[in-house]
Amino acid sequence: VENDAVTVIPELLPVLRGIVGESAVLSVDDVTAGYLRDWTGRFGAPSGVVVRPRSVDEVAQVLHSCAAAGVAVIPQGGNTGLVGASVPLAGEVVLSLRRLSDVSVDAVAGQVLAGAGATIGAVQSAARQAGWAYGVDLASRDSCTVGGTIATNAGGLRVLRYGDTRRQVMGVEAVLSDGTVLSHLSPLTRDNTGYSVPALLAGSEGTLAVITRARMRLVAPPVPSAVAVLGFGAVDDAARSAGLVRRTDGLSAVELFLPAGVELVRSVVDLPALPPAAAYLLIERDGDADGLASAVADLPGVVDAAVADDAAGRASLWSYRERHTESIATLGPVVKLDVTLPLDRAADYLDAVDAVVTGVAPGGKVWLFGHLADGNVHTNVTGVPEPDVHAVEDAVLRLVADLGGSIASEHGIGVAKREWLPLNRSAAEIDTFRRLKSALDPAGILSPATLLP
Ligand code: MLT
Ligand code: ZN
Repeated sequence: VENDAVTVIPELLPVLRGIVGESAVLSVDDVTAGYLRDWTGRFGAPSGVVVRPRSVDEVAQVLHSCAAAGVAVIPQGGNTGLVGASVPLAGEVVLSLRRLSDVSVDAVAGQVLAGAGATIGAVQSAARQAGWAYGVDLASRDSCTVGGTIATNAGGLRVLRYGDTRRQVMGVEAVLSDGTVLSHLSPLTRDNTGYSVPALLAGSEGTLAVITRARMRLVAPPVPSAVAVLGFGAVDDAARSAGLVRRTDGLSAVELFLPAGVELVRSVVDLPALPPAAAYLLIERDGDADGLASAVADLPGVVDAAVADDAAGRASLWSYRERHTESIATLGPVVKLDVTLPLDRAADYLDAVDAVVTGVAPGGKVWLFGHLADGNVHTNVTGVPEPDVHAVEDAVLRLVADLGGSIASEHGIGVAKREWLPLNRSAAEIDTFRRLKSALDPAGILSPATLLP
């Protein structure tokens, strides 16, 4: 999805430069490239304008000027999004929040106040230094940002224990498209004084307001843990076990991957082969290797288990799962379909999806992995010629909806899936979304091609 070279109306450029300074407006192609194309390689524009404000005040002025000029804006954090929502498609100005990157921890309250552009890695390390931890963790931790992870309600590797990003956010400062600054960053943990703006903005994907700062709750630092990779003789047993294992206390992750994914990762990363199996689950739990081994001993269909409780061993087992995304990316543009299944239909999905894809794109290769304790299966398809992409998306998302699942688990709807939102949301719900959008963004300049069909 790419438009021809587009130019923002020339009169706006000096106005933007007057607000943020000459060097904070980027418009030369080789400087802007990293802001204009996304991680999937599928979405973006060949040229465009990037504005890099340093303060909420500058963000407000930029939005006010763009609204007055009728120019659309794409708020952007680390540009690690996978659904086309973080890059321009039709002449939108990219509003990069990366310079708003301050982080401060209140060690007594167990909270962090962070600028929208702070990376999740920076938040995690500030929390760690103060004796706390941040509950959200994901492979892109050193690039993805506070604002982007709130806007997408990012999930990641520890949702099972701490919940998604929405659950961490206590307050936000955000700017409406007319330049109005909304700020409620109170440290109070009990505060029922009306509508929850953080809850509304979490998952709004840049369509309602631009998040500039946030206050998040921290969690107790994790105790030493053990990691197991279990091989299963049948996919069905792996899916059942992802549910059953949740009866065990102290779990922090239950992740799925398949033998084809292991071989692909091993072609990119130097890792030993795993014993043959139909599917693998990575399970992480507080305590030592023996405790984890006995906790998983009764799971059905386990044919092999590797367990580690030392840092190097744990990291090496995590690599089989965590290095999937980058390994798949070496195969060219990827159709990313991040979906949730009810756990009792997950095996049906895992069995059916290959044939559904090759039925519409015979050369397509499906890679399946994800956060299976929550039913989340990252469905990545490579080798699909551009004319067949739509048919692949349509076939997979309809299969998901038929099985009672969600077409967007943790990456959002973005540009990529908005056409299929009615598979999961009623006409009344979508109409209410539109009313919220026009109340908060009457000029319709914020991420106009995202989320709403
Ligand atoms: C992951 O869990 O690794 C991410 O959500 C990224 C992906 O789906 O590629
Ligand atoms: Zn994920």
